Amino acid sequence: MIHILSTKEEHLKEAGDYIKKGVPVIFPTETVYGIGADGLWADSILRIFRAKGRPSDNPLILHIAEKDALRELGEEIPPYVDLLTDHFWPGPLSIVVKSSDKVPEVVRAGLSTVAIRMPKNGVARKIISHGGGVVAAPSANVSGRPSPTSFEDALQDAQYMEAEHGIGELAIVDGGQTKVGIESTVLLCTSYPPVILRPGKYTAEDIARLVGKCDVYHPKTSEERPQSPGMKYGHYMASKPTVLMDMAPEDTDQFLKKHGRESLRILFLATTENQWEGAFYRKNLSSYEEPEVAAEAYFKALREMDRQEGDLIVIQSCSRSGIGEALYERMKKSARGQVMKEDWDENWIW
Ligand code: TXA
Ligand code: MG
Repeated sequence: MIHILSTKEEHLKEAGDYIKKGVPVIFPTETVYGIGADGLWADSILRIFRAKGRPSDNPLILHIAEKDALRELGEEIPPYVDLLTDHFWPGPLSIVVKSSDKVPEVVRAGLSTVAIRMPKNGVARKIISHGGGVVAAPSANVSGRPSPTSFEDALQDAQYMEAEHGIGELAIVDGGQTKVGIESTVLLCTSYPPVILRPGKYTAEDIARLVGKCDVYHPKTSEERPQSPGMKYGHYMASKPTVLMDMAPEDTDQFLKKHGRESLRILFLATTENQWEGAFYRKNLSSYEEPEVAAEAYFKALREMDRQEGDLIVIQSCSRSGIGEALYERMKKSARGQVMKEDWDENWIW
């Protein structure tokens, strides 16, 4: 059974009550929809892992409604973290610090650290408050799929969780379309300088501007247990084969002119600059120079592509400035690493 709730005050209270009863609640944040459980209650957290089909070694982010909760959940928090939370909270920045004993091990997947974030979305914060103040919430997609950024996409995955993963009861709050469109920046703050484990809206430059320095972690494919465990799994994938064109729109057009053919129905996730007209289905994300606009639209558009008939999804990359770097990382994962660059081989075939 799926309870559908609006953002009316009494419904947000009801959402909090479901969390307190151990019923998973899907709700909007400013980044993507999350699926939440009481962050201090191990059994209800296990239900979230099951709903998503998420590997148990991939830790969750604890969502809080008040900044002070950070100090109840984390320990040995370096002073520079205050600069970050003063500036970026509430907002799409998850801070990883040493965990206090209060946090159940299942949340952290056995790690000694815990990720914490205070979302900007007011609906999310009210649900967190009504639900007890600490809510563990991974993105509300079935594991491996693109994160939901609209109510409709979140509902579709909720229905899948109910039908395929045996989740008897779920609630979902219709908060419309999310704003940022991709998940928060995950920042390791156990020592100095902090290290970006997952790119997001806030970049290393944004963080370094405040605290002086910020590193970026690049997981190696050979690593058994990367620092951010989630980075090793397949993510953000459509069910159709997908290729990312990591080149300027005019070069992509040239490539498609040469290699496109009618028998291959291409679903083209394009920029407004792309001129190629051979697509079976096309959607423009934004202009090449507007990664913020593209990020907001990306996951929804990718899911739309996946629902069409057609054989192959081709994604035009965007400028990598600002949030563009994080968007590029999502796109690359959607394509399972199938990235076409400018130096493509003349004899290449799909
Ligand atoms: O924007 C977001 O962060 C969304 C919304 C719902 O708030 N949530 C989200 O959660 O993206 P999830 O579970 O899909 O991604 C959490 C990421 C994973 O890559 C995970 O490995 C990493 O955060 N993570 C969580 N705890 C960690 C820890 N203690 N150390 C390192 N990485 C951690
Ligand atoms: Mg996720």
